[in-house]
Amino acid sequence: MELQLIHLERQGNLAIVTLSRPEKLNALNPQMLNDLESVLVELKADRTVRVVIITGEGEKAFVAGADIGQFPTLTPDEAKNLAERGQAVFQQIEDLGKPVIAAVNGFALGGGCELALACHLRYAADTAKFGQPEVGLGVIAGYGGTQRLPRLVGSGRALDLLLSGRMIDAETALAWGLVNGVFPAQNLMAEVGAIAQEISTKSPKALEHTLAAAYGGYDQPLTDALAGEAEHFRAVFDTTDRIEGAKAFLEKRKPDFKGE
Ligand code: COA
Repeated sequence: MELQLIHLERQGNLAIVTLSRPEKLNALNPQMLNDLESVLVELKADRTVRVVIITGEGEKAFVAGADIGQFPTLTPDEAKNLAERGQAVFQQIEDLGKPVIAAVNGFALGGGCELALACHLRYAADTAKFGQPEVGLGVIAGYGGTQRLPRLVGSGRALDLLLSGRMIDAETALAWGLVNGVFPAQNLMAEVGAIAQEISTKSPKALEHTLAAAYGGYDQPLTDALAGEAEHFRAVFDTTDRIEGAKAFLEKRKPDFKGE
């Protein structure tokens, strides 16, 4: 696989995906979306990878949005295709079946904020800034922002960002629940690595079913969603990981989960 705008690094059971187009603040162009999709397909299939971290190259930006350079010549139908393409790739993050963590190292604007929203957890450098500035360009968020942002922070706060186009800092993002934590910029990757490391010691099957239950039930009536949870609860009892989990607890040792 020939990646042009993304670096993929493995550290034990962790995979670190770095979007790398720093001279354009890692703005998302078609090649980067293609690279991201290729990486996601590979990481989903790789059973040795238990947690994925997505970050941006350089100190300034996570991702400063979709590449605005492609906008002027787009026809309305091409624009719809572009939105659907970005949405589909980001959906692959949500559906990866293993935890994906955004390490937001700087500007997360437009498609960059939407990329972070598609991840399961988000941690930010204290220097990070979040925003959906599209309305200032005469367009709207099209990679999931009008949908995932209200689901995460509530419609009032989401519409504040989506309608004003203003940026908020990392502390505000934390207060809003847009991120799970904020760290000094120089510590971000170490702190996120430690969080990912801890998650990677848990049962991959339990992680997968937790994600599926939580996301699967999101838009369902509670009774249906709870029925779904019971099905996932059933499914994890069909794994050897749950035997190992209970056995390790009773033997007062750390479990050695195989993801089976
Ligand atoms: N698409 C394409 N290029 C982008 C970009 C984007 N979303 N965001 C930044 N860039 C490019 C700039 O054009 C510039 O390229 P150049 O050096 O060839 O002129 C380079 O990245 C550096 O950005 P610059 O604007 O000079 O940095 P800054 O520190 O002055 O401002 C931002 C930083 C993030 C505030 C500013 O780049 C910005 O507003 N970007 C667009 C954000 C946006 O609207 N995103 C939503 C898109 S739908």
